[in-house]
Amino acid sequence: MKLQNKTAFVTGASSGMGHAIALKFAAEGATVIAVARRREKLDALVKESAGLAGKIIAKSGDVADVDGITKVLDESFAEFGKIDILVNNAGVMDEMMPAAECSDELWDKVIDTNLRGPFVICRRWLNGQLDNGGGVIINTASIGGLFGSRAGASYTASKFGVIGLTKNIAFMYAQKGIRCNAIAPGSVATEIAVGIKNPSAFGMERASAGMGANPRYGEADEIAKVALFLASDDSSFVNGAVITADGGWSAY
Ligand SMILES: NC(=O)c1ccc[n+]([C@@H]2O[C@H](COP(=O)([O-])OP(=O)(O)OC[C@H]3O[C@@H](n4cnc5c(N)ncnc54)[C@H](O)[C@@H]3O)[C@@H](O)[C@H]2O)c1
Repeated sequence: MKLQNKTAFVTGASSGMGHAIALKFAAEGATVIAVARRREKLDALVKESAGLAGKIIAKSGDVADVDGITKVLDESFAEFGKIDILVNNAGVMDEMMPAAECSDELWDKVIDTNLRGPFVICRRWLNGQLDNGGGVIINTASIGGLFGSRAGASYTASKFGVIGLTKNIAFMYAQKGIRCNAIAPGSVATEIAVGIKNPSAFGMERASAGMGANPRYGEADEIAKVALFLASDDSSFVNGAVITADGGWSAY
């Protein structure tokens, strides 16, 4: 087992990649603090993890709520003493809204969830783990954080920002026992599209321009396997990297 005696904190664990990552880490022996807003989904995840080598503990939390999510980290450090692995996975889409059509409300919601959330969580986590033996951060970015039109303006800006945050933390703390990497998934079959309720027709048309070149949709578990590599000592020399997992879409 690759994560025995490790404690992990995974946001957005109620569905999709976060759900798959929590189960994968628990199967490898970790104690996983699974964080999300939908308590009933987290409780179902805890049940699903019965019999695995590690365990999953559910905690309600909204990554866009600075004080609330900081408190969840405070409590987790108090309860477990350490958090070896941090996975900033929670994220929302942006209705494919191009800049001219993007409201302040939508911009703030997407940036607060996808970028400020990971920043606030990294800050609290670093202040817990820097004097605690270090550890590993994994940020779920996106192909939309590497290319200009896989989504709307706010999602694209948020994921480019996450990659910048990843690289900055990676280099700043490289000699202090911290590694920080990002995963850039392509299209993965999850619930994320459910959040697209009233998309911009123009933005959707522009953001779909490259979809014909997409070889296939990925499965959440295929991303969890990359997360496991980054969480474990198998990736001990990997720091500041963005690992693309998109079935070859961006190779075109
Ligand atoms: N599915 C894709 O095609 C794809 C591609 C690239 C990147 N991503 C990224 O992968 C990550 C995981 O998304 P997914 O595809 O598994 O979708 P998903 O919708 O199944 O999972 C996202 C999770 O984040 C949670 N979440 C959203 N806002 C939150 C908040 N404020 N506080 C706490 N939890 C919150 C959701 O409830 C959900 O559990 C996201 O960061 C997303 O941007 C997804």
